[in-house]
Amino acid sequence: MSPSRRFITALPLSAAVLGLVLALTPGESPAKSKRKEVAGSVCEAQELKARKAEDSHLEIEIPPEFDSPWPTLEACRSYVAAEDPDAPGPMQPIPFSHKHHAGLYEIDCQYCHSGTDRSQAAGMPSVELCMGCHNVFPPSYDSEFEGIRDLKQYWADQEPIPWVQIHRVPEHVQFRHNRHVQAGVECQRCHGPVEEMDKVYMTDDTIWWPWGLPSAKLEMGWCVDCHRENEASQDCVTCHY
Ligand code: HEC
Ligand code: HEC
Ligand code: HEC
Ligand code: HEC
Ligand code: HEC
Repeated sequence: MSPSRRFITALPLSAAVLGLVLALTPGESPAKSKRKEVAGSVCEAQELKARKAEDSHLEIEIPPEFDSPWPTLEACRSYVAAEDPDAPGPMQPIPFSHKHHAGLYEIDCQYCHSGTDRSQAAGMPSVELCMGCHNVFPPSYDSEFEGIRDLKQYWADQEPIPWVQIHRVPEHVQFRHNRHVQAGVECQRCHGPVEEMDKVYMTDDTIWWPWGLPSAKLEMGWCVDCHRENEASQDCVTCHY
């Protein structure tokens, strides 16, 4: 047997040994990264599809019952962000996202806070208003989001949703949304970029007076400073009964 021929017959054997060594090597073996990821809900399926779009080698399996375009990836992510206990702002009875409704879907602020242009209080949307849209959504929303099941429960019980109020001035102060909205002061000037928030919180807006005193949002100095700038009334009785 010539040396070259001996080499050729030995080749399959060494390849087999090499394969065995690779298969037994722990850690980042090729076999492990090929493991298939299986979705257990529509939201998990949306996340897996997004990861697959980034990394085509990823092996994913979407069981047919979870292969739905609704809810969207954005809705799933906003929901999680809106119920993040570590994010600023109080926990709300339903993880409702402004970034999703007012930002992505561009639903007008006053569609939900319809009091702002006419009345003193901005007001909260009724359960009926939520249901106007959510009643016609596919059942996958109910199974994905506990918040949607809760919403439907409030509707069935005919009870208002106990939203936690974030901005509040004391009883002895008179604040009117309508006067401000009519004067063209934007919501964001006082409330910050609400349409970018999954979970609403009171943004800080501290005014430093010339003599170095800070006035935080909703404090008297904060109101008066803007009134001074805009030549609006600074009479005590304007804001105090
Ligand atoms: C004008 C229609 C409309 C109204 C009114 C509306 N929604 Fe929605 N809502 C949507 C749409 C559209 C989506 C997301 C669809 C998607 O991307 O999958 C959504 C998603 C959601 C979600 C999941 C994402 C998130 O924000 O956490 C929740 C929870 C929700 N809505 C609750 C409510 C509540 C509570 C109200 C009433 C205060 C309400 N919605 C009013 C249209 C509406
Ligand atoms: C689909 C309905 C909907 C739309 C559209 C909407 N909101 Fe809201 N808003 C709510 C609900 C429900 C709450 C109570 C839960 C929360 O705080 O997220 C709320 C709370 C708020 C709060 C906190 C109120 C407090 O307790 O102090 C502010 C401020 C606010 N919205 C401003 C806005 C602004 C500004 C826009 C437009 C950019 C807007 N909202 C659009 C439904 C809506
Ligand atoms: C000049 C500042 C200012 C502007 C502009 C403003 N707000 Fe407010 N907002 C406040 C203050 C102050 C409070 C607390 C009022 C109270 O305690 O009665 C408040 C409270 C709220 C609340 C919760 C209280 C309620 O009435 O249920 C909502 C919702 C709200 N604002 C939405 C809006 C929206 C939407 C806009 C724009 C259309 C807007 N605000 C514009 C200052 C402002
Ligand atoms: C971002 C600026 C701004 C801030 C902040 C602000 N205001 Fe005003 N406010 C105005 C403007 C501008 C007007 C004038 C509207 C007009 O001329 O009709 C006004 C008008 C008013 C009026 C009606 C005045 C009248 O003549 O009837 C009241 C009451 C009032 N503000 C209370 C408050 C209180 C209370 C706060 C703080 C919690 C506050 N405002 C914060 C800009 C502001
Ligand atoms: C533009 C609106 C505005 C005007 C004008 C205004 N205030 Fe105030 N004032 C407030 C707000 C809002 C608060 C509550 C927040 C705080 O305590 O800083 C307040 C709080 C107060 C308090 C504290 C009450 C307490 O319980 O601690 C006093 C006292 C007061 N104001 C007196 C006055 C006097 C006197 C004037 C006239 C020179 C005046 N205010 C003009 C908005 C106003």
